[in-house]
Amino acid sequence: MNTRDDELLLIGAIAQRGGVNASALRYYESLGLIESVRTTAGHRRYRRSTLRRVAYIVFAQRLGFQLEEIAAQLNGLSKHHAPKGDEWSSLSQIWIKRVDERIQELVHLRNSLDNCIGCGCLSMKVCKVFNREDRLAEKGAGPRLWLGDTPTADEDSQ
Ligand code: FES
Repeated sequence: MNTRDDELLLIGAIAQRGGVNASALRYYESLGLIESVRTTAGHRRYRRSTLRRVAYIVFAQRLGFQLEEIAAQLNGLSKHHAPKGDEWSSLSQIWIKRVDERIQELVHLRNSLDNCIGCGCLSMKVCKVFNREDRLAEKGAGPRLWLGDTPTADEDSQ
């Protein structure tokens, strides 16, 4: 029995509905993330169910997953039909962990936007407190306080 997810769509239709370029679809396909079928003339057609995989790929990238990680997550799911609820729910456990991490990062970012971020600029008065003499540079490159390091202790004032 044919269902709507068996329906074959042109690459342009998938690109438009999925919100990605046709070139991105070809790239995803080259990585094995999605699959097309070929017409007798050699043109690509995609099952409608591909749209769900495309949505997954796009949002997984927004969450910071690399394409190799996404491929591993999708590995084992059929490319011939939309995944069932229990298949999505096992994938969602991976996302829940990442979403929780991103929420924590964003809350931390929001709360520190107008404060010293530990970047080494020493341009604010509070940098003397949070990053005295750029001691956070010892922890590595970048805005150390945004990256989760704790402010330097002001040993001289104790
Ligand atoms: S804001 Fe750059 S070191 Fe404080």
